[in-house]
Amino acid sequence: MQRPPAPAAIPEPSRPELPRHIGIIMDGNGRWARRRHLPRAAGHRAGVATIRPVMEACHAAGVHILTLYAFSTENWSRPRHEVAALMQLFGDTIDSEVGEMHAEGIQIRAIGDRSKLSPRLQQKVRAAEELTSQNTRAVLNVAINYGGRHEIVAAVRDLASRGVDLTALDTETLAGALYTAGLPDPDLIVRTAGEMRISNFMLWQAAYAEIYVTETLWPDFDAAAIEHALGAYAGRDRRFGAVPEAPGRMEEAIVAPASL
Ligand code: IPE
Ligand code: IPE
Ligand code: MG
Repeated sequence: MQRPPAPAAIPEPSRPELPRHIGIIMDGNGRWARRRHLPRAAGHRAGVATIRPVMEACHAAGVHILTLYAFSTENWSRPRHEVAALMQLFGDTIDSEVGEMHAEGIQIRAIGDRSKLSPRLQQKVRAAEELTSQNTRAVLNVAINYGGRHEIVAAVRDLASRGVDLTALDTETLAGALYTAGLPDPDLIVRTAGEMRISNFMLWQAAYAEIYVTETLWPDFDAAAIEHALGAYAGRDRRFGAVPEAPGRMEEAIVAPASL
């Protein structure tokens, strides 16, 4: 399992009530293109233009860890020409964006099975990671050939190959073997384009993430849309399985008259 460099820092949100980490399922590029009678690849290109303003909006709002789902382990089953266009776009985007991201202090990390990418793209990914590996202002994980199931299986295999006793495996050890080792789990997962599903994204890490789905297609998503998602998140009641507040009030009501 090839991993990205370890996080150089875990930048905290500027206010504790904000999510520490946001994951985004960037969906709807194809529909955006279809509505304009354009090829799907044009939708993917338009989607790339959304990334920078959304990252900046997260940063301005005080959230400094972002994971973008760019290509799933299932997306290989798309038409060959679409897969080729996406792979080309990933390489082009690294070429055009990484310099500025580095200047802004962003650590770029690729998560997913990079061994299936072309040697040229793997090289670009590695170079971007190396260049930015010491940056501490923000973390950008890009999920390419990423699948939550694959990640968990690869992590377990990795532990086994290192001689870890799997009969004693615990959640911390497994979490520490995932691509996201060292990072907090996403508090908020945003999905654009309306589908109410997780599509193999961060299955382990999403255990208690708040899910926010918007009808807005990814190329139309913007800073205001992130503000809206953060507003929705702020209104959520996160219980993590516990019973909130006022423990024992019922018992008090029952016990009190008898003790009079
Ligand atoms: C998301 O947009 C981008 C990738 C999955 C690579 P889609 O290409 O899935 O767009 P729709 O869902 O067809 O509109
Ligand atoms: C999820 O979108 C994957 C990415 C955004 C990279 P898909 O378009 O592949 O998901 P499904 O097919 O609608 O579940
Ligand atoms: Mg889709």
